[in-house]
This record gives sequence, C-alpha cells and structure tokens, in this order.
Amino acid sequence: MNRISVVGLGKLGLPLAVSLASKGFQVVGVDIDERKVRAINNGISPVSETNLHETLTRFKDSIVATLDYDYALRNSDVTFVFTNTPSNPDGSYSTRQLESACREIGKVLRDKNVFHVVIIMSTVLPLTCEETLKPILEEQSKKKCGVDFGLCHTPEFVALGSVIHDFLNPDFFLIGESDPKSGRIVENIYRKISDSKIVRTSIVNAELAKIAINCFLTTKISFANTLGEVCEKLPNANANTVTSILGLDHRINAGCLNAGLGFGGPCFPRDNKAFNFLAKQLSCQSWLAEATDKVNAIQVDKVVEKVKSRLKGKGTVAVLGLSYKPNTETVEASQSLEIAKKLSGLGYKVKVYDPQAMNEAKLILGDNVVYCNSLQQCVENTGLCIVATPWKEFKHLKVSVPVINCWNIKK
Ligand SMILES: NC(=O)c1ccc[n+]([C@@H]2O[C@H](COP(=O)([O-])OP(=O)(O)OC[C@H]3O[C@@H](n4cnc5c(N)ncnc54)[C@H](O)[C@@H]3O)[C@@H](O)[C@H]2O)c1
Repeated sequence: MNRISVVGLGKLGLPLAVSLASKGFQVVGVDIDERKVRAINNGISPVSETNLHETLTRFKDSIVATLDYDYALRNSDVTFVFTNTPSNPDGSYSTRQLESACREIGKVLRDKNVFHVVIIMSTVLPLTCEETLKPILEEQSKKKCGVDFGLCHTPEFVALGSVIHDFLNPDFFLIGESDPKSGRIVENIYRKISDSKIVRTSIVNAELAKIAINCFLTTKISFANTLGEVCEKLPNANANTVTSILGLDHRINAGCLNAGLGFGGPCFPRDNKAFNFLAKQLSCQSWLAEATDKVNAIQVDKVVEKVKSRLKGKGTVAVLGLSYKPNTETVEASQSLEIAKKLSGLGYKVKVYDPQAMNEAKLILGDNVVYCNSLQQCVENTGLCIVATPWKEFKHLKVSVPVINCWNIKK
C-alpha cells in the first residue's frame, strides 16, 4: 500500500500529498484545475503554505499530478479525497465537488479488480459518507462497499499556516471506517507517518467528532472573549493572566483561550454554523453554538467603539494585520480585515499592512484603504494603531500614538 492518490490539490490536499511523499509514498495527485496540475508537475506550488514549496521541490520525484482519474486510481491502492465543501446558505456543507469526485472514482473502480480504499478527508455533515457518497461509489462502480472496496472518513485537525507540520505530528489520527479491513489499511498508512494515537470508529462518529471539536474550540474562544470584556471593566483585572490561569487546569487546557478578536478563517465560523444546523435538523437545541456566534459577531464592533472613543474626529488609523491569523495569507472571515472595512466605511482614513495577506486583502478592500509596504510606513502619520492579527513582527511595535493591541501581544 505504498501508492496513494490524492484528489483535490488545494490548500489541504497538496500539503497532504507532499507530506505523504515525504514519508516514502508514491503519490499521484488529481485535480480538475489544469493550471494547478501543470504548476505542480513543474515543481511550483500553486498554493501558499509554510514549507510547501520546499517539500514539493525536495520530493518532486515521488509526486505526479494529473487530470486523469483513471491513471491516478490505476497507479494507487488508496485514494484520499480532499475537495472543498463550501457552506450553503442554511449552514450545511455543499457536497457537489465530493459527489463529482466520487462519480469519477466509482467509474474507474468498476474495472479495477483489486480492493481499493476511498478516504474522504473533507469536512462533511454526519451521514454524508453513508447516505450520499457511498451510494454514488456503489452505483458507478457496480460494486459493494466494505466487500469490493472500502470507504473511510479521516478528518484532519490541521491549521492553515502549519498544515504540513500538523499532518505529520497530529495529537491523534481519527479513522471512521466502513469495515475493519479498510480501517486496517488506513491505520497502516498512518503508522508510517507518526506514532500518534489512532482512534478507529464508525464513519458517523468520525464525521460528528470533526465538527464537534471545532464547535467546542469556538465555544472556548467566545468564552475567553467574554472573560476579556469582563476583565476590561473590572479594576486591575488582566485578561491574559486570568486566561493563563484557566489554561493550567488540565480539564480546560490552554488552547483557544486567548482573549482577543473573534474566530475567523475557512473552518471555525462555518463548522460552528454546521453544528447548529445539524442540531436543529435533529430537533435538538444548540444554544451554546448560537451564543458562541453571537459573541463572535460583536468583537469587531467592540474594537470600532474603542477607536471612536480614543480618536477624536475622523483621523487616520493603521490596521496591522489582515489575515485571520498569523502565518497565512488567508483573509476569509477575518475579523482584522472586517475592522479595516468598517472603519473605512465610517469615514476614517485607513492604512493597512500585513506580512502575507496584502494581495488577498486587496481583492476585498479595493481602493477603500491605503496599502503600505512595511510596518513602519503603515504606522507613520497615523492617529491610532490597531494590532489586529498577532504576527510576530508586531511585537516590536514602537509608536507614540495610542495602540489598540487586540491580542495584548508583548515582546
Ligand atoms: N482550511 C482548513 O484549515 C481545513 C482544515 C481541515 C479540513 N478542511 C476541509 O478540507 C476540505 C478542502 O479544503 P481546501 O481549503 O483544501 O479547499 P480548496 O478549495 O483549496 O481545494 C479544493 C481543490 O479541489 C479541486 N477540485 C474540485 N472539484 C474537484 C474534482 N471533482 N476532482 C478533482 N479535484 C477537484 C479544486 O480545483 C481545488 O484545487 C474542505 O472540506 C475543508 O472544510 C479545511
């Protein structure tokens, strides 16, 4: 089982493909985007991610990209599927790309007479694999899941900016399996990656665990932000000190407990909404998920109110950081970007700087803000600075004007 195909070579799929290549697997990547396929075969990464370009260059002999499902599946024993599942307006995930990928996979499996395992990596709602994807695979292949081919769901708990590191060093591997043979095959692959704990369970448990983990983490973030607001109003209380004390309790753990801006990015906001959607569909109350979203929605306005009270008139504001978190160019659902947008909408002159996300931000902020090439240029001639994304380089900020340090980052 040394030959693996990866379908969907995007922000997650390509880092997964190079991570597998770095562990000695021969990887065939499939995408419908010809430009991506060509770039990868030329040793150029079409997506930006920490260490991706270096790892792709180093292991380029172990990776080939193609548009051809037939070639990919015939030259592999298992297929990881990492296409996107964008949110629908009702909070559920679209499975359009996954369905299309499974149709193509099923067609090839029809003529393949070796047991092949299909591993769904994308985030999906519980029962998607069983009720939507398995029937497509069985219909197209004319074969039986669990007998002629296997289906697994192994969600990833990686963060943009550290995707390769997180793939190779997970807290645990989670394998939802259609049958023990398929689970064993996936377990053997993961054993070659790391000796982290492996949990094998049903597919539906794995589907639910993935969104439940993100939902729980967003609950922690909103709680920390509520605590932060209380601390601001309580004489001499310090949010960082209080949350770090909470983090010492092993039942709580320190992760996702920094009081600061709310959560953003391509996963947390939508996974919380998806959990809420699921609960409602099952006639369960999901008050916590709703409250978490409400708390998150007011974080940007809290910063805007601080600007209004600290800067008399409509002066110039420097917004430092636009990505939704450090070490990524992603600005999707970024609260930092939202602050810049709101302030500019209110008539402030807004100058912005981000070490990586300037191009992405321009697509959304357009001509409404002034783009600066450096931190120094951004803070010059401003009436107030906002440290919106806690990039390391902002720790050394020295300015004479008031600073709203959303994350209390210090040297
Ligand atoms: N971003 C995160 O931090 C994170 C973390 C864990 C899980 N996820 C999940 O991972 C999944 C993928 O996310 P992403 O950010 O990598 O998406 P992406 O949009 O960056 O990449 C998806 C890729 O799939 C390709 N594709 C689409 N349809 C295809 C098809 N039929 N056949 C072959 N290729 C096809 C696209 O061209 C694209 O290259 C999502 O379900 C997401 O929720 C994301």
